[in-house]
Amino acid sequence: MSDSQGIPATDFSSVPPLEVVRLGHPVLRSVAESVPDEWFGSGRLADFARDLVHTMLTSDGVGLAAPQVAEPLRLFAYWVPSLGDEPETPPNVLVNPELRAIGEETEEGWEGCLSIPGLRGLVPRHYRIKVKARSVDGEQVSFTADSFHARVIQHEHDHLDGIVFLDRMTSVRSLAFEEEWDRYVLSEEQDDD
Ligand code: NI
Repeated sequence: MSDSQGIPATDFSSVPPLEVVRLGHPVLRSVAESVPDEWFGSGRLADFARDLVHTMLTSDGVGLAAPQVAEPLRLFAYWVPSLGDEPETPPNVLVNPELRAIGEETEEGWEGCLSIPGLRGLVPRHYRIKVKARSVDGEQVSFTADSFHARVIQHEHDHLDGIVFLDRMTSVRSLAFEEEWDRYVLSEEQDDD
């Protein structure tokens, strides 16, 4: 996902970010492969995960999936900025993740995507999800996420199955360029607060 909110401080050196591919590249419409067991704990996976986080942060994104850098593998990076009383969720990488909705509740919210630059649209997502995944070191990870945190994870997980947020929109009528979105939609929502 893309987001124009603040970026946490990072200690990355000046390594160049990976190239983010855009809609039209076939890798974005492919189902990605599970990361093989033997890769966990390897320098290869750790290096790639680090590059993925670095690329996400330097691209002003809150999420970046491996297929978006033309690696058809089931892992993604994400982070969640501090919202209201909720603390920031620092950059994290989930490998071979599995999601399950908790309850029936859904919520519409605005999304953008580094592979679909310049556009935003309203997307319904499950409000609360259960996440099971492995860390880059191979540890089993399990947690629940809700609201924007759940949204980011659902958006990134979709990339592993060749799905982009446009596919999840119930109507394209909300689709907007970021500049116009900032000008007309955001200002209206702030007026409503
Ligand atoms: Ni995306």
